[in-house]
Amino acid sequence: MNHAAAVLLLVLLPACGGVRPSAPAAVPASAPLTPSPAAATEVEPLAAAAAPARLVGAAVQASLLRTEPAYAAAFAHQFDYVTAEFEMKWGQIERQPGQRDYGRADEIVAFAEARGLRIKGHALVWHGDSPAWLESLSPPEVRIALEDHIRTTVGRYRGRIVAWDVVNEAIADDRSGLRDTVYLRKLGPTYIAEAFRRAHEADPDALLIYNDYGAEGRGRKSDDVYNLVRDLQTQGVPIGGVGLQMHLDAASLPQAADIASNMRRLAELGLLVNISEMDVRVARLPGSLATRLEDQRRVYHDVVAVCVAEPRCHAITFWGFTDRYSWIDQFYGPDDPLLFDEAYRVKPAYNGVMDALRGR
Ligand code: XIL
Repeated sequence: MNHAAAVLLLVLLPACGGVRPSAPAAVPASAPLTPSPAAATEVEPLAAAAAPARLVGAAVQASLLRTEPAYAAAFAHQFDYVTAEFEMKWGQIERQPGQRDYGRADEIVAFAEARGLRIKGHALVWHGDSPAWLESLSPPEVRIALEDHIRTTVGRYRGRIVAWDVVNEAIADDRSGLRDTVYLRKLGPTYIAEAFRRAHEADPDALLIYNDYGAEGRGRKSDDVYNLVRDLQTQGVPIGGVGLQMHLDAASLPQAADIASNMRRLAELGLLVNISEMDVRVARLPGSLATRLEDQRRVYHDVVAVCVAEPRCHAITFWGFTDRYSWIDQFYGPDDPLLFDEAYRVKPAYNGVMDALRGR
């Protein structure tokens, strides 16, 4: 039970129980003096504060949209861009070869279309959620399976999904070049170009994106991403954008100026850039929760402001929106990484994003 509910219960209990207390129920000394923060549905939508051409979205889960009205309402009120947190990953769609289930992906698309929201598909080729059965196929069979997957999935939503993360996290963290994945082992490095070409054939109007993490600021990995996408362009591969995931830890951050210059050099290649999976961990920061959330507000502000200042940064997607549901808790430990608290109330982080979108 939260504090406000406990106070309410204390006040109501005597009336309910019929037992007259000898003295009026005292409000505990620790009762909050300030009103609790506003609900996500009561405050200005982030999407409305952004410039019309800039999309503001979050990753969602179909099951939560279906079962939790407060989740669906908060999301629909605040955002105009939708990404499936896992429902469009290959391993989710095709658990057995040739048996595709788009049920949950379709739910997210229907939710978005009913409300006029834009949709980003995520992600066609990602080692983190590939069908296990790929491993036992021969290289030509993997190529056919990959082509079928891209043709069928992108084709299904042709004209309805505005952008696709075509290849996700293909670069290794250890400076060895491309990550060792089933795709690299079976098909060699040209799998990346092939995936983009097949996606373009299936929907020539969709914006096709290379997405990665740890390549937000300047450094070895962001140089690797830059070189990869520049080489793809040189080969005439239909790539239109780069996603910078932006899973940040407030205790060790890239510099805002480095993020800006990284976005600029990608933009100068003629690509669009987007912040694709932003969340900001604060568990490792020192200080009280209030100070940590204030630090988090500043990080959200400063990073979103970089996108706002970059004309080719066309979208910002958060990886979830409520601390009630974040992958961070499972992967890194308990934290409060998102814009709204567990009861869908505004956190300082929301104000930081709002200020940045407003140019403040
Ligand atoms: C994560 C989801 O949030 C988890 O629920 C899932 O179990 C694993 O994937 N980079 C990505 C996202 O591109 O697809 C990942 O999403 C988080 C890291």
